[in-house]
Amino acid sequence: MRIAVASDHAGFELKNRIAGRLKELGHEIDDLGCSGPESVDYPDYGAAVGRAVAGGACTRGILVCGTGIGIGMAANKILGIRAATVHDRFTAAMSREHNDANVLCLGARVLDPAHAVEITEHWLAAEFEGGRHGRRVNKINQLDVQPDSQPDQPGEVP
Ligand code: RB5
Repeated sequence: MRIAVASDHAGFELKNRIAGRLKELGHEIDDLGCSGPESVDYPDYGAAVGRAVAGGACTRGILVCGTGIGIGMAANKILGIRAATVHDRFTAAMSREHNDANVLCLGARVLDPAHAVEITEHWLAAEFEGGRHGRRVNKINQLDVQPDSQPDQPGEVP
C-alpha cells in the first residue's frame, strides 16, 4: 500500500518509528514531514496528508501530533478525508470497519510508542464492512460536497 505519513514536532519520533515499521512490512511510504523536532504547525501536515490521500497519490494516510486531535481536525477539512483519532485497537478497527477512515491519527503524548505501532498495523489490516455502514459513510461524504442541500431531518435508520 502507498501510505502518506506526517507529524508535527510532538509526533516526529513516533511518525518515524511508524514509517520505519511500515517500510519493513513492504509498504511504500511518502513522508511529508516534519523533518525534525523543531516546533511546527500541525495543520500544515494534516492538510498535506489529506491532500495526498484525497488526490489519489496515496491510498491511506497516517498522522501524529501530541494528541492526534488537531492534526486530524485539519485533515478532515480536506474534501473526501475521513480522519479518525483513535486510542486503541478497538477504535482503530471500528474506524475502518464502520467509518471507512482513510486517515489514521495518533497522539504521541497519549500512546506508548509500541502500542501506537500495533494500533497502526491493526488499522491497516482492517477492512470496511460496507452494507448499512456504506449508506452512512455516503451521508458523511454528501455533507462534504453539498452542505446547503442536505435535509434538516435525519433519514430513517433501520
Ligand atoms: C503541540 O504542542 C500540540 O498542540 C499538538 O501536537 C497537538 O496535540 C494538537 O492537537
